[in-house]
Amino acid sequence: MILGCSPTPAPGSDPKARMVARHFSAIATRYDLANDVLSLGLQRRWKRTATALLDLRPGDLVLDVCGGTADLALLAAPRVAPDGLALVYDFNPNMLAVGRAKALRHPHGREVAFLQGDAQEMALRDNCLDAAIVGFGLRNLTRLQQGLKEMHRVLKPGGRLVILEFSQPPARWFRLLYDLYSHTVIPLVGKILAGSREAYTYLTTSIRHFPTPEELTATLEETGFSQITCHPLTQGIAMIHRGVKG
Ligand SMILES: C[S@@+](CC[C@H](N)C(=O)[O-])C[C@H]1O[C@@H](n2cnc3c(N)ncnc32)[C@H](O)[C@@H]1O
Repeated sequence: MILGCSPTPAPGSDPKARMVARHFSAIATRYDLANDVLSLGLQRRWKRTATALLDLRPGDLVLDVCGGTADLALLAAPRVAPDGLALVYDFNPNMLAVGRAKALRHPHGREVAFLQGDAQEMALRDNCLDAAIVGFGLRNLTRLQQGLKEMHRVLKPGGRLVILEFSQPPARWFRLLYDLYSHTVIPLVGKILAGSREAYTYLTTSIRHFPTPEELTATLEETGFSQITCHPLTQGIAMIHRGVKG
């Protein structure tokens, strides 16, 4: 039994959470398609790399924090089968509905479960999970360190945390190209494919305000994670942080 209490109803009264919830409600049904187009398919490779870093074993319990449409949980499911479970935790019912429909069609969908609630106050017991992954979700939390503390709390000692998040490419020439793409192509394609320019303008702004890899490493250490490693992806457009609960 991993449930500790009832999930917190979210997004509550927090203005950022309400805005994030509104954006994801608007784009949920086209979210996966827009991701594939905007990343030119790269997001699939990044997600496979991130899931491999979880070092999952059959029987493991793995948490997909801010799991949305369940891509990462569905990649993790075959690795924990037949007795393990990948649990998607997300506060947005529309994103979860898309994830549930995908799980029904997936050969390992039975190893995926869904829970709606706030990742900053998870309804899970202490020390109950073998691994946790958060893909493109940390940026959306109002209280980033509180979210990390929750992930640390629910992991067993020795449990692995993997964070996949966008980053700022370090090479200046590449950053200029990337900025141009972010400010022009992403909001336009977001509007055409997913029906919301605002959601994709928020995406590019939130990437710029996200901590640098060095800052995130320091926050992970402060939260109690050790053995932290960083893995840049595709010229540093995205970054994987991996840590272990000490
Ligand atoms: C960019 S999507 C990522 C979805 C998925 N992890 C992926 O990699 O495709 C961010 C997700 O975080 C969820 N989210 C944002 N803030 C949250 C919170 N405080 N608690 C739970 N979920 C949250 C959103 O509902 C959304 O589904």
